[in-house]
Amino acid sequence: MCGIVGYVGNRPALSIVLDGLRRLEYRGYDSAGVAIVGDDALLTEKKAGKLANLEKALTEGPDTGIAAGTTGIGHTRWATHGGPTDRNAHPHVSQDGRVAVIHNGIIENFARLRAELEALGIEFRSDTDTEVAAHLLALELDVVRTEGGQGAQALAEALRRVSRRLEGAFTLLAVDTAIPGAVAGARRNSPLVVGRGVGENYLASDVSAFIEHTREAVELGQDQVVLITPEGIEITGFDGTPVEGRPFHIDWDASAAEKGGYDYFMLKEIAEQPQAVADTLLGRLTETGEIVLDEVRLTEQDLRDVDKIFIVACGTAYHSGLVAKYAIEHWTRIPCEVETASEFRYRDPVLDRSTLVIAISQSGETMDTLMALRHAKEQKARVLAICNTNGSTIPRESDAVLYTHGGPEVAVASTKAFLTQLVACYLIGLHLAQVRGIKYADEVGAVVGQLQEMPDKLRTVLESMEPVRKLARDLASAQQVLFIGRHVGYPVALEGALKLKELAYMHAEGFAAGELKHGPIALIDQGTPVVCIVPSPAGRGVLHDKIVSNIQEVRARGARTIVIAEEGDEAVVPYADELIRVPRTPTLLAPLVTTIPLQVLSCEIASSRGHDVDQPRNLAKSVTVE
Ligand code: AGP
Repeated sequence: MCGIVGYVGNRPALSIVLDGLRRLEYRGYDSAGVAIVGDDALLTEKKAGKLANLEKALTEGPDTGIAAGTTGIGHTRWATHGGPTDRNAHPHVSQDGRVAVIHNGIIENFARLRAELEALGIEFRSDTDTEVAAHLLALELDVVRTEGGQGAQALAEALRRVSRRLEGAFTLLAVDTAIPGAVAGARRNSPLVVGRGVGENYLASDVSAFIEHTREAVELGQDQVVLITPEGIEITGFDGTPVEGRPFHIDWDASAAEKGGYDYFMLKEIAEQPQAVADTLLGRLTETGEIVLDEVRLTEQDLRDVDKIFIVACGTAYHSGLVAKYAIEHWTRIPCEVETASEFRYRDPVLDRSTLVIAISQSGETMDTLMALRHAKEQKARVLAICNTNGSTIPRESDAVLYTHGGPEVAVASTKAFLTQLVACYLIGLHLAQVRGIKYADEVGAVVGQLQEMPDKLRTVLESMEPVRKLARDLASAQQVLFIGRHVGYPVALEGALKLKELAYMHAEGFAAGELKHGPIALIDQGTPVVCIVPSPAGRGVLHDKIVSNIQEVRARGARTIVIAEEGDEAVVPYADELIRVPRTPTLLAPLVTTIPLQVLSCEIASSRGHDVDQPRNLAKSVTVE
């Protein structure tokens, strides 16, 4: 939540900061603002609403010279404390007008700090928790200077002192009018990465903000302050101890974070799924069917010792975990539980050294997932992250990581992240099975080959989506849409419903098809659209027969059945009002192909209803609060 950018160098900061905000806007779009250090002046502009409002204000407002400064910070907000108004937009400026601060996270002790500052006569101009940081920083800067601190070092020292007083989660960036050529940043429990340029440096919530300027980045750790100037990057702990940041190279292409001719990022990301799946498989399957997972820094003995697996994740990532449970238990015979990360630690789960906790997160910054993994580590469990974002917090704090190679996912609705998370889960399940000796050796061997066929199958699915788009336009006025599935089709049903809720703002629910008769079937009225995810009749034929019965049950109650079934499945034809065909795929891998029509359906319904597909209301891409 909230996107943060800082720049210092020799070029005008404003356009660089605005470009960075444009790439980070998916993180929050309640308001946006910038602060540029000008000629002994702090120039700020901020506006409620999307970035376009800020840009309009900057274009139409008087020429303040804001465009000329070469040091600047910018913020795009997902509101927590204080509504999404101009006055609550960041940056927040100290009472003396010298210091500007932007913030991502929540300062939990802000009420106490605010009372303390008000007692000193400071008048607050917003309802945010962030404003306390601006005032505290100005006061600390005065103290540091009285003690002889000077220039950029004084700013860093003052920020360290402020950071030590704050509780909660925060990334802060600060500039001071008296110190052009320096931006200081602090990080606790919220993301912040450094971009290393030549004669210029960057700070941002994630690398996409500066990827077009530099591919060299530095990872910051927990409780660290960073000072960037055109000449250098200095990192210390909150106590002032110098720290070496971990450098890393960004291999994403800058164009990967652009729409590339598509109307929405979501459409582009749906289309990228065959490549994202291929990239996530790349180098991980040998010709002899072995799984090679170099980044999984757990020994084979560690993996043999695992006697229980928990998967923790949120939203779409949680749905990938639900699918993984079926595959992992079937292939490895290790009991596997899947939990929403936000609930995990509060129920005191039974964990020990032989428990493997798999934390799945596209962003690597989801606070609920991070807290679940920290809890697991406190209980001595081993944590393996599945993540798409290099340098993010969740992989850094895990014992091992398997990166999905999906490239940047910008649309708030997760698409290629889901498919690549599924692939990563399959790889982990197969790897565990191979390391531990397996019951279904032939099947596991066959799956390796089937996975390699998936990119082509996904291309086939994408090429046949026109009828789904047409159907979507037809469904745009429906009151509700229900989704049913069995086995791995059940999480796919949940994922289809989540997509429709978040994008089209329609009532949508996913159900295990067998559960319908225990209550939810009462929702079905004449014409209610019910999307039915049908497993392959091959293999687990019994599952297929059961869902065909469930389709007949809903149809008998007036439902309009939209059936997703594989090529050649003729048994469903009499009961399908609409039939969407997907290529033949073994049951456990079927979510890779059956999810795509649901993504296309929700995207098209949302756009038919006139919604902003990439930035649905009330949401943010990266949820860094609990
Ligand atoms: C789904 O479309 C959402 N964007 C959301 O449910 C998301 O999957 C969830 O917030 C988890 O995010 P993460 O993968 O970055 O941890």
